[in-house]
Amino acid sequence: MREVTSLLDGGFGTVEVPGEGDVRFAVKPVRQGQRSGAFVVAYFTAPELPEFDDAVGVYAVVAWVALLLIGVGGWVVAGRLLKPLRELRATAEDIRDSDLTRRITVEGNDDVSDLARTLNAMLDRLENAFATQREFLDDAGHELRTPLTILRGHMEILDKRNTELVEATRILVLDEIDRMGRLVDDLVVLAKAGRPDFLRLEPMDVGVLTDDVLDKARGLGEREWRLDARASGSVITDRQRLTQALVQLAANAVRHTQRHQVIAVGSLVDGQLVRLWVRDTGPGVAAEDARRIFERFERARGSKRSEGSGLGLSIVRAIAEAHDGHVALKSQPGSGATFTVVLPLRPVPPGQDPADDRFDDQLQDVSPPTVRARAGQQEEVR
Ligand SMILES: Nc1ncnc2c1ncn2[C@@H]1O[C@H](COP(=O)(O)OP(=O)(O)OP(=O)(O)O)[C@@H](O)[C@H]1O
Ligand SMILES: [Mg+2]
Repeated sequence: MREVTSLLDGGFGTVEVPGEGDVRFAVKPVRQGQRSGAFVVAYFTAPELPEFDDAVGVYAVVAWVALLLIGVGGWVVAGRLLKPLRELRATAEDIRDSDLTRRITVEGNDDVSDLARTLNAMLDRLENAFATQREFLDDAGHELRTPLTILRGHMEILDKRNTELVEATRILVLDEIDRMGRLVDDLVVLAKAGRPDFLRLEPMDVGVLTDDVLDKARGLGEREWRLDARASGSVITDRQRLTQALVQLAANAVRHTQRHQVIAVGSLVDGQLVRLWVRDTGPGVAAEDARRIFERFERARGSKRSEGSGLGLSIVRAIAEAHDGHVALKSQPGSGATFTVVLPLRPVPPGQDPADDRFDDQLQDVSPPTVRARAGQQEEVR
């Protein structure tokens, strides 16, 4: 009672009653006029405790079992979900640049499988890139070994006392060294071709480029040089690389024609395309060689090694592709060949063309090369 009277101003408390256990009580003061008192509520907790203990016990068991089931289920599901990731890590650890053939096994259709598929596709691309690089090095090594073998062979049999032989060998050695130099230069261009800094794009007048190419080509040999067509207008390209490609085509045309045979250069703006071509009246290219000759170190069947290393057309193709274009070949064996570099038209934005601020695709002479009109020609598009 002492505890209750001490809380007459209101409050809660617990007292222990011997033999009955704990009694919880609440006191609330009550006032009516001059009279005051307290409203007291008390209850014995002992009868309710076992029931409460039972409930808590059942709850605890259920909670632990549920937690255990969720834990095991989560572990199994997470394990299944993460299996491809573990496999991915293991495969990635196994992959060396010497063996890029390993792939991640893909099962199902979830996000992780999509990731595995994407990584497999990336590995395919990497494997291709490495294979191409290795092939390139093999080819380059093989082509460089041939002139070196020739040089060694001549040096070994050289008789210093024979001045005539020494002079002939000197000329031959210098010739082979020049060939190796050209080969190395060409290989460097091809190796650079995939790099983002390969092209230096700038506004260029197609007509002026056509004239330049014709001027340079005239120096390659005495031929009947012609201008088929001359487009005018400025486009964005790499002037030096494009000149290099067209001079390369002109050098091939010279190599496959005789004195006084016709070789023509031309350009044309054709819808959204710029076409620049070199046409010759030489033996042309056989249908079975048309695709092959654009590959590295490939020459037409029957060509002699002395004619070239077979890199010219792959360089032309690399330059066209770097401009998002391609090289087209039209040829009828016996009647000549026309190699056309086809580029997407990238007009110079107004105000950026040093020569003229309006792009004008009017042609001074729009006649296409005559060889394109002949029936029965094949066209190879790269
Ligand atoms: N105008 C052409 N007429 C006939 N055949 C050609 C012509 N241009 C190229 N070819 C054939 O295509 C092959 C490949 O030409 P490409 O320019 O790639 O190499 P190449 O001229 O032999 O050597 P390189 O250009 O490296 O000195 C040539 O060997 C030749 O057989
Ligand atoms: Mg060539």
